[in-house]
Formats: sequence, C-alpha cells, structure tokens
Amino acid sequence: MRVVRTIEELRTARAGLGALAFVPTMGNLHAGHLALVRLARQRAPRVAASIFVNRLQFAPHEDFEHYPRTFEADCAALEAEGVDLVFAPDEGVLYPEPQSFLVEPPPIANQLEGQFRPRFFHGVATVVLKLLNCVQPRIAVFGKKDYQQLHIVRGMVRQFDLPVEIVAAETVREPDGLALSSRNSYLSAAERAEAPRLHRLLCAVRDGRETATGALAALGAAGWTVDYLELRRQSDLAPPQAGDRDLVVLAAARLGATRLIDNVELQLG
Ligand code: PAF
Repeated sequence: MRVVRTIEELRTARAGLGALAFVPTMGNLHAGHLALVRLARQRAPRVAASIFVNRLQFAPHEDFEHYPRTFEADCAALEAEGVDLVFAPDEGVLYPEPQSFLVEPPPIANQLEGQFRPRFFHGVATVVLKLLNCVQPRIAVFGKKDYQQLHIVRGMVRQFDLPVEIVAAETVREPDGLALSSRNSYLSAAERAEAPRLHRLLCAVRDGRETATGALAALGAAGWTVDYLELRRQSDLAPPQAGDRDLVVLAAARLGATRLIDNVELQLG
C-alpha cells in the first residue's frame, strides 16, 4: 500500500493503477469505514482511500481541533483490507490558499443537517469535488449513515457530469443497533448504554409502531436534545406527499455533548 501526501505524488502513483474505487474518509476508521472499503474492492480492481479532516465542513464551535486523529492505526487497517493507495494530504496541500471557490449545494442542503450545521454541505461538497478531481476514481463509495451527504454528493456528481459512479453502502451497526460513528468514542458509559434508543425509535417509526412526533417526544423524555426527527422522501429528501412510498426517517440528536445521526429507510404499502 502506497501512502501519498501531495497531489503530484498522488497523480504519479495513481497513473499506474487503472480503474479505481475510492473511499473518502476523515480517518479514525472503524468497521463502518472498512465495510465501505470492502464494497469498493468488489467494484474495482484497485482501491484508494483518503484520510483528511476537512476544516471546511466544521463550524467554528464544532470539534475540528479535537476530532480523533489515528493515522497509524488507520493506515494499518486500510493495508489489512488490501487498499492500494492512501491519499493523506496536509491542510496546506488541499487548501494552499483560502478556498474561495465553493460548491453551492441546492436548498435541501439548508434543511435537516444543514439547518443545524449551516454551510456543512458547502464544505463537504467542496472537498469531495476536490478529492474526486485529485483521485479520479471510476467509483466512489459513501455510507448511507450520512444519508443527506450521499444525496448531495449524488446530485453534485450528476449535475457537474463528473465521470464517477457513486455507490451507497449500508450502515454498519453495533449488535444493539447503534450506528458506528467516530463520534461514538465521545460517549460516556451511561450515554453508550442509552444511545441505541435512537435506532430503536427510528425502527418503531418505520414499523408503524410510533409516529415521528412520538419518537421525537420519546427521545426528549429520555434526556436527548433532538435537532430533528423527520420522515422524508428517499428520492429528494422533500417532505412526503400523498402517494409517496419510498421514505426515510432521519434524525440527529444530542446525548450529553455528543451529537448522533441515524436514519432508516421504509417502504409504504
Ligand atoms: O463522510 C465523511 O467522512 C466526510 O464528510 C467526507 C465525505 C470524507 C468529506 O470530508
């Protein structure tokens, strides 16, 4: 496995690799990321990953400085999964000057996550565009855990005619249902025990045992601070209209200082 730090090194290393599947990450890899890598390996002869904590997608009060950085362990895990190439640029490589050209995502980016993390998707879309330009993969794999991110990346790739296929990977969960996330490491033991409630309630909404409003209230009663818990259409993340069948219930809520997001798809009828 080759680890490259600069765009020049990347272009040279990439040239010999042919068709690539790519997994962009911010590091601190867990089994969820490795599932993305495994899916990537099924879809292309060679796999590249990136490790880059993207300041542009963090608000000033968010955890950019404290975001867990575990580079050596990440590289060992990627190597064990058979990754061919890791692009791990320093900030000065991807942002040698202030990034004044930004991707302007559509208005859906200001709802759900975007309502609580203004300009988050500007930062995500901008870095994903840059990474795709640098790595030039045939396929890029994104997790459904970040459902709105996947939707926005798909839209960007479609509207900018980027020559890459976006592949979605299912969310990987702990046995008790908690979606794997780098931020789970912030949870205290008591919070970790409480955290699976989020997925349980999303499943209750999916199965018709609970309404979205009821699930939101139940989280509040259990001590969570809920940003949103909403049913949306899978196709465009708009609020569902009569007759819509393919829906997704998405939520973000804080347990103590840790903000967790999750979603569950459902089909009506
Ligand atoms: O999902 C993530 O880890 C990040 O948002 C991504 C896609 C690597 C962009 O920084």
